[in-house]
Amino acid sequence: MKGIVSAAAASFCLLAASCSKPPAMQNSKRDIHSFSNPEQVRVKHLDLDYDVLFDKRILKGTATLTLDRQGASQLILDTRKLTIEKVEIAGSPAKFSLGASDPILGAPLTISLPANAATVRITYATSPEASALQWLDPAQTAGKKRPFLFTQSQAIHARSWIPLQDSPGVRMTYSARVRTPKDLLAVMSAPNDPNALRNGEYSFQQKQAIPSYLIALAVGDLQFRPIGKRTGVYAEPTVADRAAAEFSDTEKMLEATEALYGPYRWDRYDLLVLPPSFPFGGMENPGLTFATPTILAGDKSLVSLVAHELAHSWSGNLVTNATWADFWLNEGFTVYVERRIQEKVYGRDREEMEAALGRQELEREMAKLPAADQILHIDLKGRDPDDGVTSVPYEKGALLLRSLEQKYGREKFDAFLRQYFDHFAFQSITTETFVDYLQKNLLQGDTQFPLDEWLSKPGLHATAPRPTSSAFDKVAAAAKQWAGAQQSRSPTTGWTTHEWLHFLTALPPDLGPEKMRELDRAFSFTQTGNSEILDEWLLMAIRNKYKPAYPRLEQFLTTVGRRKYLKPLYEELVKTPEGRERAMAIYKKARPGYHSIATRTVDGILGMAKPTG
Ligand code: BES
Ligand code: ZN
Repeated sequence: MKGIVSAAAASFCLLAASCSKPPAMQNSKRDIHSFSNPEQVRVKHLDLDYDVLFDKRILKGTATLTLDRQGASQLILDTRKLTIEKVEIAGSPAKFSLGASDPILGAPLTISLPANAATVRITYATSPEASALQWLDPAQTAGKKRPFLFTQSQAIHARSWIPLQDSPGVRMTYSARVRTPKDLLAVMSAPNDPNALRNGEYSFQQKQAIPSYLIALAVGDLQFRPIGKRTGVYAEPTVADRAAAEFSDTEKMLEATEALYGPYRWDRYDLLVLPPSFPFGGMENPGLTFATPTILAGDKSLVSLVAHELAHSWSGNLVTNATWADFWLNEGFTVYVERRIQEKVYGRDREEMEAALGRQELEREMAKLPAADQILHIDLKGRDPDDGVTSVPYEKGALLLRSLEQKYGREKFDAFLRQYFDHFAFQSITTETFVDYLQKNLLQGDTQFPLDEWLSKPGLHATAPRPTSSAFDKVAAAAKQWAGAQQSRSPTTGWTTHEWLHFLTALPPDLGPEKMRELDRAFSFTQTGNSEILDEWLLMAIRNKYKPAYPRLEQFLTTVGRRKYLKPLYEELVKTPEGRERAMAIYKKARPGYHSIATRTVDGILGMAKPTG
């Protein structure tokens, strides 16, 4: 019935001189990273039914798609390395064909739709090399006894485990039934039941319409620890208590964000701590943020990551970038909101330090980036959207919002942002739509604000905010003394992680191994348990040929798979012939333990052939 109505609407549309788009499509723009045809037929609901087969490293089962048709005769889905067994419509076999595989986009799956078809069931299996899936041996887990599986769908990896319209402009609800070995727990990006019976059969329901990149699954020897009434953490047994202590401010963060931007709309907010090979710091899967264990510093100093992923519950998950060219709408807004949360929960001083470090990192990275990659509204033609992930969408995006806040005042800007989240709730929007809304609701004819430069030009506008921290002024002075020959030095007692980070980056790049040894003797950097400080120190160790840190470098690179750390460390190593040799030797050992998203990056740095498909 539904199909007939939309088909009629579509043919009427052909006759009309100018055809007004249905509301769901107002913000749609062709997504160059998807083969799908959502302008003709849209997936509204996805139902998954899977067996998780650890021995074969595959997921096997069915995906049933419920369609909203605008008169299309074909449904085109994105896939990557999927084995399609059969396609059925209303219980009968349907015609389908799998197109040629593109190295970045995968292969289109084209299904012919009979007149009344409203659902399509695909029976299939994933490949052991699926780019979204990492299957871990017991040795790669904290407990060392049971295997582990997790997915990472952003940006365009969902298609490697589900045949779907893999574009952030398409939103769907989903349900799932997942069968696993009996002693393992499955969790998904949907409200998870803290009291779920652990029997190897799990079901989930995401009732909010979300884009495909937010569909996520993890299976492992997981335990749950409550944090607050709507918050908690899942982790392996030996990590769970540490994680619950580290994240004990999560409920406070949630309340702080609600006070600023309105109610949390995703039921529960839980965190899942993954094994160290997780290629990212965090991933904002709705209701269940996935996080690296490298943020468990023991002193809550790295929980800005929790603020960040939580902030995505508004910026990103509620109001979503419609294409990957609009990625800054997700991340720039999120970094801005993250800092507002940090300010509310930990105070202005901490926020200032984090913002100052953010601008520093942006400047450092932009100096190395081609002009085209310094643009917020980026052109990703012919590229994998994972390659657009630099500090530009994050920190330059956040500076744009900080600049708007400064120009129009916090009160007005807060009201604007809250209204923006409400207005576009559960929609995917383009940069153009944001610009239009900003013009109407905040700029209101003000032509002074250099919006076009912010969005379409490389570099930073002269009026870009320069967040400063008075604590950092003292740190910079101490760094200067250390770099020089003086014997009397300012005290460092009571310094926080942020001050140490600023200290390390404020030191001259060519300290030399002797000064490095002196610093290490005074502060034991090589032995630090703080991953951010260690990362910075190891970069300096490579640059200054400080050999006593080499074993720690090797240990770090062979146990941690977080791309943010791997990329700069390998890049620094390959700058010299000896370093390149060491990098190759370490990578040989480390590569089997990395996620394919990480190996793609490191393969590129070491000049190895890129895997295709
Ligand atoms: N959504 C991102 C992670 C991401 C981006 C995955 C693009 C794949 C493609 C997540 O919210 C994020 O930004 N994570 C950061 C941490 C954050 C504190 C800056 C990370 O993983 O480093
Ligand atoms: Zn983010």
